[in-house]
Amino acid sequence: MKLALIGFGTVGRGAYDILKDRKEVLEKTVGPVEIAYVVASDRSRNTLELEIDEPVVTAKEYDEVLAEVDCIAEATGAMDMAYDYMRRALEKGVGVVTANKACVSAHYEELVALSEKTGAPFLFEAAVGGGIPVLTPLRALCLQNDILDVKGILNGTCNYLLNAMFKDGADYKNTLALCQELGYAEQDPTDDVEGYDTRRKLHLLIEMAFGHVDGDAIPTRGIAQINQSVVAYLKANDKKVKLVASAKPVDGGIEAVVEPVLLDGANSLAILPDAINQVNVKGSWVGDLAFTGPGAGKEPTGNAVVADIVAAATKSAMPLMKRGDVKLMPIRGRYFVAKELEGDFVDRVDEGFTYTKSVARDELLKQLDNDTFFARIED
Ligand code: HSE
Repeated sequence: MKLALIGFGTVGRGAYDILKDRKEVLEKTVGPVEIAYVVASDRSRNTLELEIDEPVVTAKEYDEVLAEVDCIAEATGAMDMAYDYMRRALEKGVGVVTANKACVSAHYEELVALSEKTGAPFLFEAAVGGGIPVLTPLRALCLQNDILDVKGILNGTCNYLLNAMFKDGADYKNTLALCQELGYAEQDPTDDVEGYDTRRKLHLLIEMAFGHVDGDAIPTRGIAQINQSVVAYLKANDKKVKLVASAKPVDGGIEAVVEPVLLDGANSLAILPDAINQVNVKGSWVGDLAFTGPGAGKEPTGNAVVADIVAAATKSAMPLMKRGDVKLMPIRGRYFVAKELEGDFVDRVDEGFTYTKSVARDELLKQLDNDTFFARIED
């Protein structure tokens, strides 16, 4: 197989290192996987040429690249440009492997349809859960099961940040900067802490497990409002906060939401350390499954990219199920709010923090400004 590696940032380098290291094993087992080109920006081309042996080209030469390769591995982290790379590849019948959750979430239907039309593989395991093999088994699970529930922690940065705050009382800003240094956070970490990155990943899980929704319409709240006094109060009450994504079928559609959730200290999502992610999937035949592993970082995400490259080389990926539109239904829940509130929906107030009865999430939000931290209470 001839491959073009597009983008040489954290994930691209991870995939490159693994492909080089495993070259002989791959060759013996699935045939040669040759990095025929690395496609880089005009700015980084010259420095990259000094660093690696493979031919380095830029977007201008992309048509020639596509004429020669069987598959592209897109790891630019870009949006419009990445879409252009992927669309043009699939149109020409060239396989696409990508880690780009933002771009796949934004163009899911079109890219999947193109892949079906031309028969070129379109694989995006690295886009959800970093190094965790979850989309690959989910493709198969969906064929055999109705999916009854999907829930998990899908952002390594937020998991790391919340763990550090709850364990060591760490400072929010400094820890977020550390997540950037560790290669966990997005170029714009707002995407992590406001929950948009998690929402994009949940959107992909929903498209695969339930059907088509507008990803941007999934109700989403991140962790940016948390502070040390909230953390101190919750710790004293043996509670932890995690940013949880969930989706499940209900009458009329699906309930899907990304928001902070208050968990008992021993809950399996509460105890996930560092940047570990977990996706819990309930299937009608298989029952409860949990997929756990490193949710971000160079090597784990590079590993997921290489797994898809191998699947493309061996043409072994399961097809995606064809599904129609599904409706996002309103969310109800009991909530913890870091503010004293009054009203029928209030269950109790403790030390200036409010615990609500079961309430419509939309109604609760009308009572809150954007600076107030809240979290759903999980029983
Ligand atoms: N910024 C993402 C995270 C990278 O922290 O999970 C992996 O998708």
